[in-house]
Amino acid sequence: MGSHNVLLIGGGGREHSIAWKLNQSDLLGKLYVSPGNPGTDIIGENVQIDTGNFEKVFRFVNEHQIDLVIIGPEKPLVDGLADYLEDKGIPVFGPEKAAAQLEGSKEFAKEFMKKYEIPTAEYRTYSSDQFDDALAYIVNRNKFPVVLKADGLAAGKGVFICDSKEEAVKRFQQFSEDDTLRKASGKVVVEEFMEGEEASVFVISDGFSAKTLHHAQDHKRIGEGDTGLNTGGMGAYCPAPVLTKKIMERVEAEIIQPTITGMQLEECPYKGILYIGLMITDEGPKVVEYNCRFGDPECQAILPSLKNDLLDLIICTNEQRLDEKEIQIDDEYRCCVVIASGGYPVNYEKGKVIKGLHDIDSEALIFHAGTSRQNGEIITSGGRVLNIVGHGNTLQKAIDHTYENVKLIHFEDAYYRSDIGHKGLKYNR
Ligand code: AMP
Ligand code: GLY
Repeated sequence: MGSHNVLLIGGGGREHSIAWKLNQSDLLGKLYVSPGNPGTDIIGENVQIDTGNFEKVFRFVNEHQIDLVIIGPEKPLVDGLADYLEDKGIPVFGPEKAAAQLEGSKEFAKEFMKKYEIPTAEYRTYSSDQFDDALAYIVNRNKFPVVLKADGLAAGKGVFICDSKEEAVKRFQQFSEDDTLRKASGKVVVEEFMEGEEASVFVISDGFSAKTLHHAQDHKRIGEGDTGLNTGGMGAYCPAPVLTKKIMERVEAEIIQPTITGMQLEECPYKGILYIGLMITDEGPKVVEYNCRFGDPECQAILPSLKNDLLDLIICTNEQRLDEKEIQIDDEYRCCVVIASGGYPVNYEKGKVIKGLHDIDSEALIFHAGTSRQNGEIITSGGRVLNIVGHGNTLQKAIDHTYENVKLIHFEDAYYRSDIGHKGLKYNR
């Protein structure tokens, strides 16, 4: 057993995969996960800390001799948990509040990109007292689709792609009427629609040096063929063949480096995982969004491909020694399929008994998300329930391996997309 006691914050599939990867490190001492899930409980110890209460987190860290806090989700980062703990001398992996604004405020991100000439969609921002002007701008536009975005965090529900003037007006009115959206969108960003294929790049940075970990493609919509409502993500695969070596060189030169340097110049160096959502347009790669964390479910596909010791990388990041490290990724394709409760992302039932968890083959991985343990059984307790990750030396083999195992898992009303990864097959990989 190593000497580094870690507190990992979060309880989704992403955090299970982080816990699984940390557990392979010789440097790991005791691992606590808050709130965790039945998957993380087997690896470390689940603890229930009210992570919205920073003082309680600090107290736990002190009482349990925690050497490092890893923050999985965006909310505690945007709320400033990293700042609070670092002020008290606790090493944290995750950006400080000012840097997390890259995800926490769309307006901040857009202004930042404009200032540092990072390619992204043209935009205008309107504050709530300028909503009449925003409406007039939308009504007078002739170019659709147009994209409307709430400024703040809106749990994936703050972005509307409007195909017509009528839809844009209707959606815009929701910004002024819907309570949650209004809270998130004291301001609204009106953005040009970018045509192209989406992909995500994951970067680790110590504020000064930045290294690309890997890239992936997510499947955000609930329905086959990318139809229906947006979700947290129904599946992912890596690597993303659309990101050829040539495109990645442009991403690094035109997007990653200027972002890291820009954040230094803004005096909020970016430390942690930076997730860059890209649109690969005819003009080249452009930023759709920044996130200040790993993607879920992209993380579940990426971490099994990473050959480096994750804890060692994180420690080097915190000691500003990332430049010493070379990121090593294996040659495999990986596919992650999310099994959800029927009805997600709207209404769904919980408490369904899950069968088949022990039937999957030894090469496939299960990462828990919305599950609980009850009377010795694992039951569903959320919308996205489980993540199954398979692999292969071609994308097709990775997809086949994943679905062979997905089919072994059963619970009432289980739902999954059967086309995860298919959009990558056109590249013949
Ligand atoms: P965001 O929360 O900004 O990532 O937006 C959610 C999703 O909306 C993205 O993953 C894209 O699929 C889509 N999207 C956002 N902005 C644009 C844009 N300017 N052009 C095209 N699609 C967009
Ligand atoms: N999979 C999308 C996200 O984590 O935001």
